[in-house]
Amino acid sequence: MFFERHEGGERAILVHPECVDDQQREDPREFQELVRSANVEQVAFVVVTSSKMTPRYFVGSGKLEEIRQQVIANEADVVLFNHALSPSQERNLEAELKCRVVDRTGLILDIFAQRARTHEGKLQVELAQLEHMSTRLIRGWTHLERQKGGVGLRGPGETQLETDRRLLRARIKSIKARLDKVRKQRDQTRRSRQRADIPQVSLVGYTNAGKSTLFNTITESDVYAADQLFATLDPTLRRLPINDLGPIILADTVGFIRHLPHKLVQAFRATLEESAMADLLLHVIDCADPERQDNMQQVQHVLEEIDAHEIPQLQVFNKIDLLGMKPRIDRDEDDKPYRVWISAQTGEGLDLLQRAIAERLGDDLIHEFLPVPHNQGRLRARLYEMGVVQSEDYNEEGVPVLEVRMPKMELQRMVLQEGATLPWDLPDLEPWMQE
Ligand code: GTP
Repeated sequence: MFFERHEGGERAILVHPECVDDQQREDPREFQELVRSANVEQVAFVVVTSSKMTPRYFVGSGKLEEIRQQVIANEADVVLFNHALSPSQERNLEAELKCRVVDRTGLILDIFAQRARTHEGKLQVELAQLEHMSTRLIRGWTHLERQKGGVGLRGPGETQLETDRRLLRARIKSIKARLDKVRKQRDQTRRSRQRADIPQVSLVGYTNAGKSTLFNTITESDVYAADQLFATLDPTLRRLPINDLGPIILADTVGFIRHLPHKLVQAFRATLEESAMADLLLHVIDCADPERQDNMQQVQHVLEEIDAHEIPQLQVFNKIDLLGMKPRIDRDEDDKPYRVWISAQTGEGLDLLQRAIAERLGDDLIHEFLPVPHNQGRLRARLYEMGVVQSEDYNEEGVPVLEVRMPKMELQRMVLQEGATLPWDLPDLEPWMQE
């Protein structure tokens, strides 16, 4: 295969550039978290402060020598850069350092690769890796591969390189075709879900905010939650009853991260698209994190990229146990809940969260018994077609009464389109119509 999955325990030198401009600068603590998530051991941390960067090696010659010394002294297996590197910079650095070099994108991909669980997720990661790799393929033919002595990688010549380029292209093509198929199946499932008109709620939030923990506690399922970044990669869906509302679909999604390279956003679109389809987003925030404000902005930014920023949001300030706070709901001037303070770990405030979800979604959903006279056959057929009719009976006048659960706006639009004359009023449905 093109990628050897390491078993962990690799020794890494971390290189963190401080000297890039503010826009591009990454958080050194987050870098260390990412490295830990990749199951790699940090043996040295090198900060690059000088502005003497070179296009050939990214860092200046003095720094390059320092890194080289660290590699030798620590017998490191890999040098990780907290920044994107061009393929030629990676190549030049590897030749100079006699050691594998991985940039920030490669590191994130590596974590994704370890976390992918569903068939689609795995395919997507492999595709992203292949595409990231295709520009870097030449690297496989340096001293490094020979040094590692991987089977089939020992000292191949130009012909072998050509063969592998062809194989790589073929592999990319076949993965794309398989992904297409998987996506079609997924769309099918999603459509039938929409027909059933079950509201969907998606958990979004910065990586490590506690989404999976919350998902588990609420659904009592056992999605993988770990104190590692990106513990969740694939959309994980559960049907869940909410008091006073009925069932919802709850979706867990991958954690967002600043400067997620654009091609990765593309590669994980399926995961994020689940959020874009939601009726309500639960934006989970680690309220004990000093960076929380900034993280919230980053999430907002990614939501804009996937066109999900206009979906109603409920902020979930998680980990109140760390601040010794009590759970509560914050409401706006219309008395609408906009923030809930909870602890996913201790379960405090989960009842409030359920109530807030019910209030926020209940605003838009109706659950009514509607008399639909026989002369309104088209409306009746459309309601059935949408799959929103839950039961049918007759009232005393012999008029069919349909029990429907659907978005209020949708019903209003449909009635107006059909020009239906009904024994009840629009747009505000009469209280006597209520259950
Ligand atoms: P990604 O999958 O990386 O996006 O992370 P996530 O947002 O799903 O976070 P996850 O649920 O994996 O939780 C991250 C860490 O925070 C874990 O170590 C959890 O045990 C911890 N955690 C989650 N909720 C709470 C909480 O309410 N209180 C405390 N103290 N820790 C929590």
